[in-house]
Order: sequence, then structure tokens, then C-alpha cells
Amino acid sequence: MNLGFIGTGEITKAVVKGIINSKIKYNKIFLSKRNKIISKYLSSLNQKIYVLNDNQEIIDKSNLVFLGITPKVGKKIIKKLNFKKSHIVISFISTIKLNELKKYIKIKCTIVRAIPLPPISLGVGPVPIFPANKKVKNFFNKIGKTIEIRNEKLSLNFWTMSSMMAPYYEILNHLSLWLHKKGLNKIKAENYITSLFLGLSKNAYQNKYKNLNELVKKSQTPKGLNEQALKELKKMNVYKKLEITSNNILRRLKDK
Ligand SMILES: NC(=O)c1ccc[n+]([C@@H]2O[C@H](COP(=O)([O-])OP(=O)(O)OC[C@H]3O[C@@H](n4cnc5c(N)ncnc54)[C@H](OP(=O)(O)O)[C@@H]3O)[C@@H](O)[C@H]2O)c1
Repeated sequence: MNLGFIGTGEITKAVVKGIINSKIKYNKIFLSKRNKIISKYLSSLNQKIYVLNDNQEIIDKSNLVFLGITPKVGKKIIKKLNFKKSHIVISFISTIKLNELKKYIKIKCTIVRAIPLPPISLGVGPVPIFPANKKVKNFFNKIGKTIEIRNEKLSLNFWTMSSMMAPYYEILNHLSLWLHKKGLNKIKAENYITSLFLGLSKNAYQNKYKNLNELVKKSQTPKGLNEQALKELKKMNVYKKLEITSNNILRRLKDK
């Protein structure tokens, strides 16, 4: 099985790193030259990775074709490419829906939309896919945890949550900067915050709590520091604002 990537940006980099460190069986990986720096870097990691100049050549040589391009580029280039019926096309493109992809791809091959995120480079994290597909499910289960979604409308909720990646990292950034301003070395501050939140997430994911609500309750001592922090943030509507932004992102995804 050969794997081809159209668009070698951040998400392709993460997925390819996940693949080469996984048990996925493949013969060759073909990458598009763009982005030059990333394609050069990835091809230096593994002898089975080849960088090609021509998107059509990548498609012709591959069984699984991944679309790792932005929606704007996708709308421009996909319709100019020729696919075969036997192809499985996996699109990472956030705002091109299945029907639109079918229109651009023309031929009746298998098309699946997937939402990997950068932790896939480490072989962890959920990968929602739509529509359900056994082969694609098994593939992503080797570098993460596939979630099959049977309805595109529902999948947009998962796309919405994927937009919380940068806001989440900004929380870590903000808190690290706060520590740094208080006099802690910047690297030490970042190491502390990232390992703190890694531990908290692992605890939430691996330990058995009835639900997250229970975890929030158990994380507060009456009249303690966590109770105060939570109360203050709630009073300032911080969590309500997460809901507002989620709704705005969902609205944008639906309109496209
Ligand atoms: N980043 C994520 O965590 C993530 C997660 C899930 C889904 N996605 C989706 O995945 C897609 C890519 O996101 P990204 O963050 O990886 O973006 P990105 O880093 O900007 O990568 C896009 C890549 O496409 C290349 N490109 C532009 N025109 C091309 C062409 N004609 N032929 C081949 N390649 C071309 C660009 O090369 P140049 O640099 O040379 O222009 C760039 O390397 C987006 O639709 C995004 O919504 C991203």
C-alpha cells in the first residue's frame, strides 16, 4: 500500500510522523514538495518517503490519498486532479463538505473526512472520521483512536471542538507567562505548566470518575483555592464564552 499526501503542512507533518512510528504497513509515502522545508525534513526521517513535484503523480502512485491543503487551495486544485475508483481519499480539509468533495473529485471513489490533530505524531488522540469506513478506521486506530461518525452534521460538532486546540495552548502560554513575570525562568515555567496540564488531563482521562462534573467537584476543597478560582472565573463568564465561541465556529462550519 502506498500513501500519498497532497499538501505537506503542519497536519501532514504530524500524521506522517505518526505513521512512520506506528505499526501501519505501507510500501512508500509520497509527499508534495510544498511545503519545501517540511517535505525535506520528513524525507530525512525515513527512506520510504519520497518528495514529488507533481500532485497528479502522487495520486497516480498512491492507494490512499490524503488531502492536507487549506480549503482555498482545495477548491482550486482538487477538480484539476484525476482520481481512480479504487482510491481512498482522506480529506483533512476543515470546511469542504463531503458533497462538495464528491463534486470536485468526480469519480466514485471512497471519500472520508478525518480530523486528526498534532498529537497524532505521538500516536495519541482521537480521530473523528465521517462517513464510517472500516479500512480508514483501522488505519487511524494504529496512530490514535478513531471515532466513526455516521452523519456529517454531527461531525461538524467535532470540527468545532478541534478549534479549541490553539485556545487551549494559549491558556498554557498565558499561565506560563504569568509564572515567568513572577520571576521564574521561562523554560522552567513552560515545563511546569505543560507537565501540570498533562497530569491533569491524564487524571481526567484514565482515572474512573462518574463524569467530568464529579471531577470538578472533587477538585475543590471547601473554601479552598480551587473553589475560589472556579467561582471567580464563572462569575466573569469565562466558561459561557467558550460556549459562545463554539456556537460561532459551528455556525461558520454549517454555512460553508
Ligand atoms: N493543523 C491542524 O492541526 C489541522 C487539523 C485538522 C485539519 N486540518 C486541516 O488540514 C488542512 C491543512 O492544514 P495545515 O494546518 O496543515 O495547513 P498548512 O500548514 O498551511 O499546510 C498546507 C500546505 O499546503 C501546501 N500547498 C499550497 N498549495 C499547494 C498546492 N497547489 N499543491 C500542494 N500543496 C500545496 C502549502 O505549501 P506552501 O507552504 O508551500 O504554501 C502548505 O504546506 C486545512 O484544511 C486544515 O483545516 C489542520
